[in-house]
Amino acid sequence: MPPSKAILSEYDRLKQEIEAHNYSYYVLDSPAISDEAFDRLFDRLIEIEQQFPDLVTLDSPSQRIGATPSKKFPAVPHRIQMLSLQKVTSMEEFVDFDRRVREGLESRSEIEYATEPKLDGLAVELVYQDGMLTTGATRGDGSVGEGITPNLRTIRNIPLRLSPQVAKSYPLIEVRGEVIMRRSAWEKLNLRLEEQGIAPLANPRNGAAGSLRQLDPRITASRPLLFFAYGISETSLTGLPDQSSVMRLLKSEGFTINDHIATAVGADKVAAQFAQLERIRPTLDYDIDGMVVKVNSFAQQQTLGQVSRAPRWAVAWKFTAEVAETTLQSVLFSVGRTGVVTPVAQLKPVRVSGVMVANASLHNEDELERLDIRIGDTVRIRRAGDVIPEVIDVVADKRPKRAEAVVFPENCPSCNSPIVRPEGEAAYRCVNVGCPAQLEGHLTHFASKGGFDIEGLGEKFARQMIADGLVKNPADIFFLTKEQLLTLDLFGDKKADNLLAAIERSRSTPLPRVIFALGIIGVGETVAKLLATAFGTIGSLRSATLEELLHVEGVGPIIAANIYEFFRNRKNQEMLEKMARGGVQFPPHHQRARSTRFAGKTFVITGTLSKPRDEFKRLIEENGGKVAGSVSKKTDYLLCGADAGSKLENARSLGVSVLDEDSFLKLLS
Ligand code: IVH
Repeated sequence: MPPSKAILSEYDRLKQEIEAHNYSYYVLDSPAISDEAFDRLFDRLIEIEQQFPDLVTLDSPSQRIGATPSKKFPAVPHRIQMLSLQKVTSMEEFVDFDRRVREGLESRSEIEYATEPKLDGLAVELVYQDGMLTTGATRGDGSVGEGITPNLRTIRNIPLRLSPQVAKSYPLIEVRGEVIMRRSAWEKLNLRLEEQGIAPLANPRNGAAGSLRQLDPRITASRPLLFFAYGISETSLTGLPDQSSVMRLLKSEGFTINDHIATAVGADKVAAQFAQLERIRPTLDYDIDGMVVKVNSFAQQQTLGQVSRAPRWAVAWKFTAEVAETTLQSVLFSVGRTGVVTPVAQLKPVRVSGVMVANASLHNEDELERLDIRIGDTVRIRRAGDVIPEVIDVVADKRPKRAEAVVFPENCPSCNSPIVRPEGEAAYRCVNVGCPAQLEGHLTHFASKGGFDIEGLGEKFARQMIADGLVKNPADIFFLTKEQLLTLDLFGDKKADNLLAAIERSRSTPLPRVIFALGIIGVGETVAKLLATAFGTIGSLRSATLEELLHVEGVGPIIAANIYEFFRNRKNQEMLEKMARGGVQFPPHHQRARSTRFAGKTFVITGTLSKPRDEFKRLIEENGGKVAGSVSKKTDYLLCGADAGSKLENARSLGVSVLDEDSFLKLLS
């Protein structure tokens, strides 16, 4: 049955309304309705589309979620070449550029420039045909890019369709701009990735590029990307006079335009704006690496033309960062707790922004490829966000003759078992559960501040204890004796006593920290707390079903599966049992009671219930009640499942109220 008129108009209205809300939310940054109200509109849209799949068009907001993965990106030729920019790095060089422009234009008066922040992301082109976004591609080599249309569609601030007026006047329009990731979003994303054991993204640019070039658009959809438009491919097309007018047009068509775009007449004014941009740079939540200065008038741009692949009418005026040069001595591959293998550059020590830098993470194989880094290379180093040292690039001219390529090992540098790179991930992993480097990571994580907080058990002793075979499993530390510790190098009497005292104290570590210490992938301190609160005891957490885990807010399907699998793994079960035997107390974790419904009431639980007893215990305790082990005069209720025995008899003889599961739940609600 074809859709009725009413459905058709409802569908159109929904599409428009949802896109308008997307615009308020993602472009204007000021949502007009609540998330729930938005979800209701969206759910209805999906409902209609499921009923009438033929209706679905490319401009439907549902297409932003990301369709199915593609095998490889198709090559997309740019109809008009995407140019690059000449660079200047000083006032003198800029004045030179301005002089060349004036000469080219035979102009005696000052030139009007459009000035824009140079965004540090990934350049893309969006093709709109009859007002509809049909193709999106990376810049590639300027002539041919990679077709990443489904991925670009997932970016919420990219309009999927343009206004009817623009569609009519310009049946083909190509919008260009930069996809970026905000710094704050990048930091958050990295925390998430790290908790999932996925290698973090080197910097926001890497974050944007890596997220955009995912084969599975659903992954792109989950990444916080933003598109800033900065121009169109064919400026003669619109009949507009200059760059500023194009930016206004783009803005009115719903594109996000950078806030710090301006115009300036003459080199001095441009220089003042450059200085101003450099001043506000640290306050921006996204990375910029300079200012793009464009001759504003299209007629003048036309006259100036281009040399090779860069226009004569524009220039990138780059900020000067504190950058140091040094040489790459070697690359070390380190294995973390989750088995992720990270290449680390070993550098000839050099001072950058006041700090000596001797090594820098090279993050992953993709970054090695991007840098094309070789042993002996001269590299430029900077401290990202002025903290973490990072390799910017290789000074190609200074490459020694026989510079050795950096090869990612095929085997784990610690245990020599083969390493694998899971589909869609940037990282290689060692999947051997017995890998000593992972054990070392596990052990230091186990003993870390957020975990059992065992002072003195750092990397050095962890490595020693593992090498000497004292510890094969983190739980072994609860069985360490002073005699054993004294056999280790560098372990004196006092140190051994201190470590044993710290281990003793750690036996009563609160449950959230115990859960964190287990090192379940995806379970950081926050999730550990949520789990402790939701399940109350280690027993309930161990026996939790996938469904119950998914009910915990903050726990998604991947983490839930990790937790579930963790507790079903025989080795992990043995570790938990060993911890218990070693005196770890797993103290129940009881947040403030949720209600006082059971305040002052004592329960006893017996028989077989639909869920583990711990689960009911938690419910009772959360509502202010107590659970005892045996029935007495003080017992208020016996919660009784199937096949109950003597406790039921006792309760009956003492006149204690007996509840089955249903009546218990009724009482609770
Ligand atoms: S205009 C001829 N404007 O810089 C015009 N580019 O070398 C060329 N970029 O990777 C582009 N911010 O993605 C222009 N406001 C801006 C820009 C910008 C960043 C990047 C661009 C490209 C590189 C050009």
